[in-house]
Amino acid sequence: MIIKPADRLQTVKEYYFSKKLKEIARMRAEGKPVLNLGIGSPDRPPSEEVIQTLQQEAEKDHAHGYKGYTGLPELRKGFSEWYERYYDVNLDAEKEILPLIGSKEGILYISMAFLNPGDGVLIPDPGYPTYQAVSQLMQADILTYDLDEQNNWAPDFRKLEQMDLTNVKLMWVNYPNMPTGATASEDLFDKLVEFGRKHHILICNDNPYSFILNDNPRSILEADGAKEVAIELNSLSKSHNMAGWRVGMLGGKEEYIQTVQKVNSNVHSGMFYAVQQAAVKALQIEDEWYRELNSMYQKRRAIVREIFDLLNCTYSKDATGLFVWAKIPESADDAETLSESILHEANVFITPGFIFGENGKRYLRISLCSNENDLQEAKSRIRQTIN
Ligand SMILES: Cc1ncc(COP(=O)(O)O)c(C=O)c1O
Repeated sequence: MIIKPADRLQTVKEYYFSKKLKEIARMRAEGKPVLNLGIGSPDRPPSEEVIQTLQQEAEKDHAHGYKGYTGLPELRKGFSEWYERYYDVNLDAEKEILPLIGSKEGILYISMAFLNPGDGVLIPDPGYPTYQAVSQLMQADILTYDLDEQNNWAPDFRKLEQMDLTNVKLMWVNYPNMPTGATASEDLFDKLVEFGRKHHILICNDNPYSFILNDNPRSILEADGAKEVAIELNSLSKSHNMAGWRVGMLGGKEEYIQTVQKVNSNVHSGMFYAVQQAAVKALQIEDEWYRELNSMYQKRRAIVREIFDLLNCTYSKDATGLFVWAKIPESADDAETLSESILHEANVFITPGFIFGENGKRYLRISLCSNENDLQEAKSRIRQTIN
């Protein structure tokens, strides 16, 4: 290539899954029937009425133009009512909600809106790799904080206080947590808000998993005084089987929303009208939807736990979310080697925990986005390679 890419790209590598999917495609082309238990992209469709709404609204003549930069008022109202109903959090539909094309892009916009090069950002280890990659693209100063199993994967505030927080402006948190499935303890959000207020750090909770295998959806915005220092990303990707539709949101105080909107309105021109109307429908869905979805995931989780039992891995029975996160036995060298050997001997791909950070090195993660037949097949292949 005769044109040199920007320096900031030297700090990031191609997304692990993007590379791994190519390898899986190559293996399949060679005739190996690889089962991919890696990615958290729900395999089931959204509810029927959501799809019908998309179809009906797409027929309308006025559906096809730009629809503004702040989302349809109906969609903002839909998010606001959803927050009231399930999180008991009041968000002003006019001022405190910004619809986004997925929460992943929100991570970039928030970082662009608040981080100058060299500003500090606190990132969980283990954690969703995008926090780190986006912070690197921003040329921010990355400070990782440990989450560990002994502390139910919550930040250790004593250790946080010992860090040099002078330049830190932003902290990423993610509860219910991915990859570990841990939920926030009763007082965690209060403590985070207090920490943010004390050190003038914006706390962003990334919250796409609160409806999956979790009886008690919670938001950081429910904590006392949260809006002063906390914002929250949410998404319909997992809760409504709409990952490819790209519908998410940012909630929080007006000033924070407007700051992010300065970036947002300059880089995209809103969502397709019919997608927004269908998202409104999804947000109004009956509780039965969540119950059925979770009963499916519960059955899958039971099989995934059996796979981990076969591998002598250990896991928490209280974990929530779309994945099972399990510790490999002492006898195994490391999770990457184990994942590679399962891929090449059993044609089953399981995510190695190192991609979420140092603290994930002795863990594996299996997604619940494969049907029961595939999970049973994966289990029997793995059993054969062990015997
Ligand atoms: C922790 C976490 N945040 C954000 C996302 C991105 O979700 P979305 O589809 O809303 O961009 C994911 C997706 O896997 C995730 O695991």
